[in-house]
Formats: sequence, C-alpha cells, structure tokens
Amino acid sequence: MANPSSNRPDLDENINVPEVHAALGADSVAAGREKSIRENGMEPVGLIMLIPCAFILLLGGSVLGKGGGLFGYNELVKNGYMRAPAPGGEEKILPPGPAGEIFAKNGAKLYSKCIGCHGPSGAGGNGFPPLAGSEWVTGNTDQLSQIIIHGLKGPISVAGNTYNNNMPAMGDGFGPKELAFVMTYIRSAWGNDASLVTPEMGQAALEVAKNRPSGQVDVNELKANHDKMLPGEALSPDTLIDPETLEPVEQPAAE
Ligand code: HEC
Repeated sequence: MANPSSNRPDLDENINVPEVHAALGADSVAAGREKSIRENGMEPVGLIMLIPCAFILLLGGSVLGKGGGLFGYNELVKNGYMRAPAPGGEEKILPPGPAGEIFAKNGAKLYSKCIGCHGPSGAGGNGFPPLAGSEWVTGNTDQLSQIIIHGLKGPISVAGNTYNNNMPAMGDGFGPKELAFVMTYIRSAWGNDASLVTPEMGQAALEVAKNRPSGQVDVNELKANHDKMLPGEALSPDTLIDPETLEPVEQPAAE
C-alpha cells in the first residue's frame, strides 16, 4: 500500500502513518518529523529508560533480600532518639510520690484478680478467708508470696476461723513488681498495717518459688520452709519515688 486509500487518510479505519508520509517522499517535512518505527509497530525502548529500570530492580532486590531492612525502624531512627512532644500537648511527667501510696495504687488494680473470692474490702465470705486482719497477709512475706504464686490447699486458720478450701495459683503475669505492688496493697489496705514489699523482694519471692516443687502450698510447708521475711532492703512508705522508675528521688530541700 504505497498510496493512501483515499485522499482523506485520516478517515480510514487503519492507516500506517509512516507509509502515508513515505508516499509524500522521504524528504518531506512530515516524514522527517516521524520517529523510526519498527515493522511490528512497536517503538524500541530507549537505553536511557533501561538504566533507571535496572537500578530500581537492583535496589528492590536488595531491600527484599534484607527482609525490608532499608525501611526497618532501626535504619530510619537513630539510637537514643526521643520523640518530640505532640504539638499542643506537653509530655506528662508524673510527679514523685510516697512509695507506699504508689505501690498500693498499682496493687489495687492488680487486686482485681483476687476480688472475686476475697471481696472488695478483703473480708472474704462464702468459704473464702478474709485478707483484712489476716495474720497470713500482715505476717511473713515469704509465705504470703508463695500462697499467691502457687495457690493454697488444705486446712488453714485465718483470724480465728478455720478454712479448708482451695485457692488456685495466681502467679501468672506476676513479675517482681506486680508481686511487690499486690502484696504492699493487701498489707496496707482495710486497716492492715504491715511493711512495704519492694520489687527486689518480689524477685526473691520468684527465686524461692522456682526452688520448690510445683503445685499448691499448704500450711505445713509454709510453716516448715517459708516462715520468714523475703530478703531485700526495707523501703519506708514515705520515701519519695519516681512513679515510672520506682527509684527514690532527691527529697526537695525544706524551705
Ligand atoms: C478462686 C478464688 C480465689 C482467688 C481468685 C484468690 N484466692 Fe486467695 N484464697 C482462696 C481460698 C479458697 C483460700 C483458702 C485456701 C485453703 O483453705 O486452703 C485463700 C487463701 C488466701 C490467703 C491465705 C489466707 C488468708 O485469708 O490470709 C491469702 C494471703 C490469699 N488467699 C491471697 C490472695 C491474693 C493476694 C489473691 C489475688 C492475687 C488471691 N488470694 C486470689 C481463694 C482465692
């Protein structure tokens, strides 16, 4: 088809532009404007396009190879980076408070695990012994910690009454801090007035728990092996501590 099928080639159903232009002669202005087109009508991809494509493939491959490492948190964020406070809001820094209050406040939340049996005011009832006024709660912290971690079975005398029931192990989810908080809470709530239990003592309780066979404790075992205080430096309930780190803070100078 050397010539256009009509003198209005733009109305033809299919036209081959280079052929139409070729018919005008290779020197025509229109033919000169035309890019060279392969036989099948496809334009060749310019080398200039292959270079960025190759680069993107290489980069993509290396990112996948590192498991997305290029965009990993640690690649993008410097060590020790501190997030700037959100606009309009100040970072909330909790003021220091007395250790006794802070421990008991945290412990009161954890007491939700015990409240179903021992009651909201620690009074027990329905066959459950009280924690308020119980010598097991205000007494030695070693035996108290083992009751909580392992649970308790067999007869036990609490505040003048005998109980013979079953308490399941409550140690799940209790680390040194949680043990310290919940023990401090029940030792100081509802008129109880016993010493504060520190996370260091909580840690000691976990070690003691590890070194005995699993299963609930009973009164015989408690009396034979655990009738003592957990080791650790005592902390006065009035000591001002940081509520986040639980470390004592400098007492502000008296004015
Ligand atoms: C499912 C019910 C139940 C839950 C939950 C429970 N206890 Fe007990 N607890 C008992 C029973 C029953 C006994 C008495 C067991 C026996 O008779 O040998 C007991 C005994 C005790 C004792 C010794 C006796 C006394 O009254 O002083 C302490 C201390 C104690 N529980 C603390 C806790 C703490 C702290 C929690 C929560 C972390 C807790 N218990 C959760 C049922 C429970």
